[in-house]
Amino acid sequence: MKDFKLWTITFLIIAKMVVTESQIPTTLDGPFKPVTHRLDPSLRKGSSDLPMDDPRIKRNVTSNFPEQIALAISSPTSVWVSWVTGDAQVGSNLTGLDPSSVLSEVWYGKESGKYTSVAKGVSTVYSQLYPFKGLLNYTSGIIHHVRLKDLQPKTKYYYKCGDSSIPAMSGENVFETFPTPSPNSYPHRIAVIGDLGLTSNTTTTIDHLIQNDPSMILMVGDLSYANQYQTTGGKGVPSFSRAFPDAPIRETYQPRWDAWGRYAG
Ligand SMILES: *[C@@H]1O[C@H](CO)[C@@H](O)[C@H](O)[C@H]1NC(C)=O
Ligand SMILES: *[C@@H]1O[C@H](CO)[C@@H](O)[C@H](O)[C@H]1NC(C)=O
Ligand SMILES: *[C@@H]1O[C@H](CO)[C@@H](O)[C@H](O)[C@H]1NC(C)=O
Ligand SMILES: *[C@@H]1O[C@H](CO)[C@@H](O)[C@H](O)[C@H]1NC(C)=O
Repeated sequence: MKDFKLWTITFLIIAKMVVTESQIPTTLDGPFKPVTHRLDPSLRKGSSDLPMDDPRIKRNVTSNFPEQIALAISSPTSVWVSWVTGDAQVGSNLTGLDPSSVLSEVWYGKESGKYTSVAKGVSTVYSQLYPFKGLLNYTSGIIHHVRLKDLQPKTKYYYKCGDSSIPAMSGENVFETFPTPSPNSYPHRIAVIGDLGLTSNTTTTIDHLIQNDPSMILMVGDLSYANQYQTTGGKGVPSFSRAFPDAPIRETYQPRWDAWGRYAG
């Protein structure tokens, strides 16, 4: 859901740029000759959800080390860094983690291994409690958000996130800030995806996307089919209502969202 918000915000910024820039053709200037590709028929058969122990979505850190690291562009000079620490839990009689038990720090700089600045942020925990027999509750890991400000546009930054007092910092990651928008400075190749899922075909879709070298990706939804699970450990199914006709509510299985946060292609 976090990711969805990021793309929505990015989309609004882009939409505004396109509207105010008369040099860029709009659909009204068309029609343009569409470029299409034949569909690989093996993609049409539908595919099953990746199991939770698949290396692409399995939790690969222990205790309070950061995972599910995600970036959200706020402006050409500001970026949010978010991540999760600690164990999410599924079951009954759960006790949520204490968000203040792990600090939210980002160490960053323009040279690899040289972190000239430190930014601190906030952390939170959420729970999904179902007052229905047969459904289990969920309480999340600690979700951290840090906003980096006063960055330079179109500049590469190297960073680590985590809690340096434990210490439990991530490995080094890198991002590049957006350029300052101008008539010639905007994302030139925009990829649009829907219904990506988290299945044995998702990687194929992502690979196609990367081959086209997009400067911006707009995901319009249906990221992880978390509502095709029953919290008691059901497998992903094509039709929730047919597989679980007695389910008291169309519930979501939050660990699938955590798996989405980990998925890196
Ligand atoms: C899509 O997934 C199905 C199995 O779920 C597999 O048989 C098929 O080869 C996959 N196709 C591609 C192009 O990845
Ligand atoms: C989940 O939490 C709700 C609200 O506290 C409670 O009514 C329900 O019994 C819990 N479910 C389980 C399986 O413990
Ligand atoms: C949850 O707590 C209730 C009340 O304390 C107890 O009766 C029940 O056995 C507990 N359930 C589990 C699975 O520990
Ligand atoms: C854990 O997974 C992330 C995302 O796939 C990856 O970037 C990272 O290198 C992995 N870490 C380890 C220790 O394997």
